[in-house]
Order: sequence, then C-alpha cells, then structure tokens
Amino acid sequence: MQELIEKAAAAVKSSKLTIALTGAGISVESGIPDFRSAGGLWTRYDPSEYATIDAFVSSPEKVWEMLKEMGEIVGKARPNKAHLGLGELERMGYMHFIITQNIDNLHQAGGSRNVIEYHGNASTLSCLWCGRTYRSEEKLHEHPPRCSCKKVLKPDVIFFGEAIPSEALSRSYELASRAQVVMVVGTSATVSPANTIPAAAKRRGATIIEINMERTHLTDTITDIFLEGSAGSLIWDLLEAVKKTSSGGIFPA
Ligand code: APR
Repeated sequence: MQELIEKAAAAVKSSKLTIALTGAGISVESGIPDFRSAGGLWTRYDPSEYATIDAFVSSPEKVWEMLKEMGEIVGKARPNKAHLGLGELERMGYMHFIITQNIDNLHQAGGSRNVIEYHGNASTLSCLWCGRTYRSEEKLHEHPPRCSCKKVLKPDVIFFGEAIPSEALSRSYELASRAQVVMVVGTSATVSPANTIPAAAKRRGATIIEINMERTHLTDTITDIFLEGSAGSLIWDLLEAVKKTSSGGIFPA
C-alpha cells in the first residue's frame, strides 16, 4: 500500500490542478453514517419516502423525523483527519477545489476554502411557500421548524427530484475538463450527475485516485490508483508522503 500512496503523492505533487469529489464515506469517521453501507441511512429510511422533494411537499413532518435524527448527528460531528488532510493539502497548494456531495460543512470546518457543494448545505432553511430563509440554529428547538407564515421549512439541501445548483454544476464540469488529478473519496459514485465528474476528467487525461473502504464501479473502469481503506488514515498517509518529498533539501524534487 505504501508504494501506491507514494505513487498518488507523486501525482498530486506534479499536478497543476487537483480536485476532489467526496461523498458520505469521508464523514463516517466523524460519526455521520453514510447512505448505502451496512447501517447507512437508506438502510433505515426509504429514500423514496424521505428524500424526494415530492415526499417533503406531501409529508414534511414525516421527512423531518429523519432530518431531525441526521441534524443531531451532523450537529455533533467534527472534521476528521480526512477533512483536515485535504485542508492542509489546499494550504500547501496541492488541492485546488473540493466538490462535495455532503451537506455537513465538515470540509469548511477542516480548513478547505474552495468547496463546491453539489447537494447544498444544511446550515440554512427556506420556506417553499413564501421564500423566507432562516439559519438552522435559529430553529433548533422547533420540531418541525416553521416559517413565520406557519408552513414547515425545508433545509437548503438538494432532495431527489431537485436540480443541482447551476453554479455548482457548471463550475465542477469546467474544473473536471482541466483537472490533472481527481481524488474520489468515500463515494459509491451511484448518484448522478456528481458521479459523472471522474469520467469527464478521465476523458481529458486526468489521473484518478480513488479512496474507499471497498471497490466501486469506478475502481475497475477508470481508477488509476485505488487506495483501499479508511479515508482518515489514507489521506493522512498521502499528506505525509507529499510533505516528505516536498521538504527534500534546498532543491526539492
Ligand atoms: N473511508 C472511505 N470510504 C468509506 C468510509 C471510510 N471511512 N466509510 C464508507 N466509505 C465508502 C463506502 O464504501 C461507500 O462506497 O463511502 C461510500 C459511501 O457511499 P454512499 O453511502 O452511497 O454515499 P454517497 O456516495 O455520498 O451518496 C451520494 O446519494 O443519497 C444521496 O444525496 C445523497 O449525497 C448522497 C448521494
């Protein structure tokens, strides 16, 4: 595995534009369950009943049962070594943009500044009926949270059936067309359009580094370097390998 980590570190170090596509797996070590692994959220809540915009509009109180559970877990979560490692790589100039499917704000808390949120962010709530918006912490003690117009508020996350924010969509494809390295971390790559980003970059010659506890449909098709294991330890090992080769004498390699 060390040889693969050093190969990945060399690719990251020589890349002029490196992006990461992250999914729920990167936040599992922060205590947030992912969706499709054993014990994941969708093994306990049927996404067709809890995660579509139609389900929210027809039964907002029911959907808030799941959102409340997720909110309490996310509220307690802190960035893990994977988020911190990507933040450090950004500070060193070796990670340029994070495209995340997560809504937990942990990349920002982990020090990443260039974060593109594909599925929105749970830190604000909006009223679908009158358009008012609130910060989530203003409504922590209301269940379900309601607007001053009395309607149930919706978190500003993208439900199935809603469009991806157009800025996130266009920016991520523009980056994918120029990226030299894409790190795909903690995602089953099963939900489009986020899951088309690695292939879009690959077609333009990018090196794909995949970090996951298990193989995905990308692993044997477009992945160039597969680091099997937990994101927290592997990203930290990668960071250490980059640092080791960056500090070599006054004439770094
Ligand atoms: N380290 C690395 N990978 C991990 C870890 C870990 N500690 N724990 C789990 N994984 C991997 C799993 O093996 C799996 O491949 O993370 C992936 C999580 O996949 P999903 O649960 O499908 O989550 P994600 O890919 O983010 O789902 C995409 O689906 O329901 C929607 O909007 C939701 O953004 C989400 C989207």
